[in-house]
Amino acid sequence: MTRILDPTVERGLLGELEPVVAANIDRHLSVARNWNPHDYVPWSEGRNFAFLGGEDWSPEQSRLTPVAKAAMIVNLLTEDNLPSYHRVIATAFGRDAAWRTWLDRWTAEENRHAVAMRDYLTVTRGVDPVDLERRRMRLMSTGIEDGPQGLLENLAYVSFQELATRVSHRNAGRETGCPIGDQLMARIAADENLHMVFYRNLVDAALELAPEAMMCAIRDVVLSFEMPGAGQPDFLRYSAIIANAGIYDLRLHHDAVIMPVLRYWKVFERTDLTPAAEQAREQLAEFLREVDVAAERFVARRAERTARRERSRS
Ligand SMILES: [Fe+2]
Ligand SMILES: [Fe+2]
Repeated sequence: MTRILDPTVERGLLGELEPVVAANIDRHLSVARNWNPHDYVPWSEGRNFAFLGGEDWSPEQSRLTPVAKAAMIVNLLTEDNLPSYHRVIATAFGRDAAWRTWLDRWTAEENRHAVAMRDYLTVTRGVDPVDLERRRMRLMSTGIEDGPQGLLENLAYVSFQELATRVSHRNAGRETGCPIGDQLMARIAADENLHMVFYRNLVDAALELAPEAMMCAIRDVVLSFEMPGAGQPDFLRYSAIIANAGIYDLRLHHDAVIMPVLRYWKVFERTDLTPAAEQAREQLAEFLREVDVAAERFVARRAERTARRERSRS
């Protein structure tokens, strides 16, 4: 993805957006709920592993289905990789005034997600902790692809990405079949929603300040969007399991992530666009039509597979 704005222009825009950041931090703090990760962990189920004289993990100890295991592993590793996202965002947003305050607050909240999920999975023996640690080390040692570079591209990316993790966490929680796991993931999903609102409001302001560049950034990000888990070990296999189970699939990506955010920005209603912005919007619309068709095909094929499975069972 080529960077849309020249760094000098970006610096000016960072300054112009700073009061919007400050106002949205106030908004965020007035609605965010402080919660404690330990409250969502059934500690009474916990026991030592062999290192301390207990028993190591074995598959029959887990109550999670293979689908729930895949979803919880992918979602936890995504949270674990926070240092990479922190680096990308700190580079794109800088560390001045309100930008710094937000970066620190956001990072602290995101860190809580990994703490809570790992404690929950370790205590309930939901997944193999040795395998999980091996995956975490592999992922964090390779980091993430650098992804979007510029300020506007990153603002657009995180708007979609926070909403995508909200959807994915919420559905993964349901898939655990455990009331505590469900509650925990709903709690985390609520945080992700507030993060999405924060970034979405910034993009909205940037659409007023730099409409052409912002529109081009939105197009570039939607056309190249990848879930943050894309660098994880076994990601392709796990993301297929997650999509087949309807935890995160192309239909949800189109209907519950991309479209609501674009609608909020009134992307398809604006009448004040330059020719370049108009062209970006047309490319975006064309791409989304293709995604919609692909999503329809995917859902139909999935339904056929399910029907076939049910027929062969009866
Ligand atoms: Fe998170
Ligand atoms: Fe988040």
